Amino acid sequence: MKRIRLDRLLSNAGIGSRKEVRLLIKEGRVSVNNIPVKNSSFQVDLEKDAVCVDGESVLFKKNHYLMFNKPSGYITATEDKYLPTVMEFFSSLPFYKKLFPVGRLDIDTEGLLIITDDGTLAHRVSHPKWELEKEYYAVVKGNIKDTDYARYQQEGIKLKDYKTKPFKIKVISASGKKSEITITVKEGKYHIVKRIMEKLGHSVLYLKRIRVGSVKLDKNLLSGEFRELTDKEIKQLKQAVNL
Ligand code: URA
Repeated sequence: MKRIRLDRLLSNAGIGSRKEVRLLIKEGRVSVNNIPVKNSSFQVDLEKDAVCVDGESVLFKKNHYLMFNKPSGYITATEDKYLPTVMEFFSSLPFYKKLFPVGRLDIDTEGLLIITDDGTLAHRVSHPKWELEKEYYAVVKGNIKDTDYARYQQEGIKLKDYKTKPFKIKVISASGKKSEITITVKEGKYHIVKRIMEKLGHSVLYLKRIRVGSVKLDKNLLSGEFRELTDKEIKQLKQAVNL
């Protein structure tokens, strides 16, 4: 039997801050099993009790999973003394303090970043053991041809201090000075895409992550916007890392 304080449940469910939900409770707008409860410390049984606010049921979520379209100019960290962090975008959420980014994108990298409070999932998605694919759209210097890079799909490449797992490059367009590609890697090492492309003689001019495992960056999300992952997206992501 898993019990939780009523005010905590409501704020975790995104109904409002702890202060706001306490007011709702005091006003008699919250019921447990159809009986109004005015005591914020009332213990709710997560498995059995039905909680409503103004007659609407509250869905209690154990964890939160958000898809964020990261803009350039923000570092992937929960706090920093000098630079703005991606977490600034989430500060209005009641469960904000528990959230953290899954893996890292460089300050100038844009695109898909998953934000969660599920430590196990975050660890596995980033860990090389699970070989979860991360796909990036990149603009690189020079004229690149996909046939040149086929062998890296089998072998990976040796960097200064590290041999990568196999990766895949697809050319979208190649025009003399610049080329557009997608590159899919299976690890989340520091600067991995930039280091691979540098080694291949095509330094990265622009980088955007477009997929993590089966989760694709939603085209409707503008830069700086986020939404919850759907149940299907969560399920597929968990399955991919054996959860
Ligand atoms: N590889 C990089 O070089 N940078 C990123 O931000 C992500 C992957």
